[in-house]
Amino acid sequence: MRDRILLCLAHMSGKEQAFIKEAFDTNWVVPLGPNVNGFEADLEDFVNNRMGAEPLNKRVVALSAGTAAVHLALIACGVEQGDEVIVQSFTFCASSHPITYLGATPVFVDSERDSWNMDSELLEEAIKDRIAKAGCKPKAIIPVALYGMPYRIDRIMEIANRYEIPVIEDAAEGLGSRYNGQVLGTFGKYGVLSFNGNKMITTSGGGALVCDNAEDKNKVMWYATQARESYPYYQHEAIGYNYRMSNICAGIGRGQMTVINDHIAHHKHVQALYEELLKDVPGVTMHCNPWQESDSNFWLCTATLDPDLRIKGQENAYKSIVTGAVGGAAGVIHAASTATTDCQPNDNVEALRVCLDKANIEARPLWKPMHKQPVYRNAPAYTNGVSESLFKVGICLPAGPYVTDADVRYIVDTIKDSIE
Ligand SMILES: Cc1ncc(COP(=O)(O)O)c(C=O)c1O
Repeated sequence: MRDRILLCLAHMSGKEQAFIKEAFDTNWVVPLGPNVNGFEADLEDFVNNRMGAEPLNKRVVALSAGTAAVHLALIACGVEQGDEVIVQSFTFCASSHPITYLGATPVFVDSERDSWNMDSELLEEAIKDRIAKAGCKPKAIIPVALYGMPYRIDRIMEIANRYEIPVIEDAAEGLGSRYNGQVLGTFGKYGVLSFNGNKMITTSGGGALVCDNAEDKNKVMWYATQARESYPYYQHEAIGYNYRMSNICAGIGRGQMTVINDHIAHHKHVQALYEELLKDVPGVTMHCNPWQESDSNFWLCTATLDPDLRIKGQENAYKSIVTGAVGGAAGVIHAASTATTDCQPNDNVEALRVCLDKANIEARPLWKPMHKQPVYRNAPAYTNGVSESLFKVGICLPAGPYVTDADVRYIVDTIKDSIE
């Protein structure tokens, strides 16, 4: 049996250990230090590079997680109890959960078909309706680069600027994706990055917030370090958090920055190969860059299945309760109580996931839209059916640095063999 092909597995450059060793040798085993500063400088160089055009001047704060970056960006935008924040519904829960940490309400906005990301027309409709119904403007707008795909940031920024609402770009999955040559995370007031174990680069766990300027960076850093005042003793005049990145994790990050461009190139190469090998397979469609402005990092490669496509074994889909973690969903410790829910991928998608699993290939459904999640049943949502319909037909395929050309051929052959 061949080794299991995972969706996206961390890949070390070989330089990480030297940075970590230096941290141990110099006793910088704390959530600050030379690796944290070095990693932030590397990230600033990376996000500010506009490929020949005048570089940007964004500043970056390294944090313990991308989720912490979303949380602190909301705080920095002044989000408080009772406020509303507009967020893309088609996303991982970390885009919206921090809104609820603050006692604010997420207002979900559905996606457009081309990019799968926030629909700008629906965004404006939602803003107008919230002003009419809630009597005040949403405090922030969070578009999400789903699977790395750029959102229509020009249109989103135009609307956000007109209504004077700050944009927090959730580019956790979109590290190195570009729109019109500019790195995602650098258009809005804040940009969220993640270095979790399965992302484009990893620090084991970690994240960062891209900020407009040094003043914003300082404010975020202050919140990330328990909001301490500069007295000789501990004086607190605001509530802070323990969200700074550790100097050990940042050492991994510095090593990873030496291969970030190779990783991005590899993900794009894998996507191109899937596109080529699947182009003549009826009923299977790869999700590709929709516009010339978009340059996705293809963090995960995704495809949709025609609802009429018959997959072997689909009559058995959802017949038994799944007991473990599916698709690398580590930390699933609550047992499911039913085999089905009222909104789930089509039987053929589940059957293909099972066929790939049996062939030792990890695949996973798309994110289930937040407006369909029971926990958000009472949150306002502005929908057009796009994210729900994509969730029913979509599947994520392996894309990481360890996925070889031979693996992609094997995955595509397995998909073809699974079709009845
Ligand atoms: C869209 C999105 N936002 C935020 C996050 C949060 O990042 P982290 O896992 O580093 O907390 C993730 C990833 O996990 C994500 O996929």
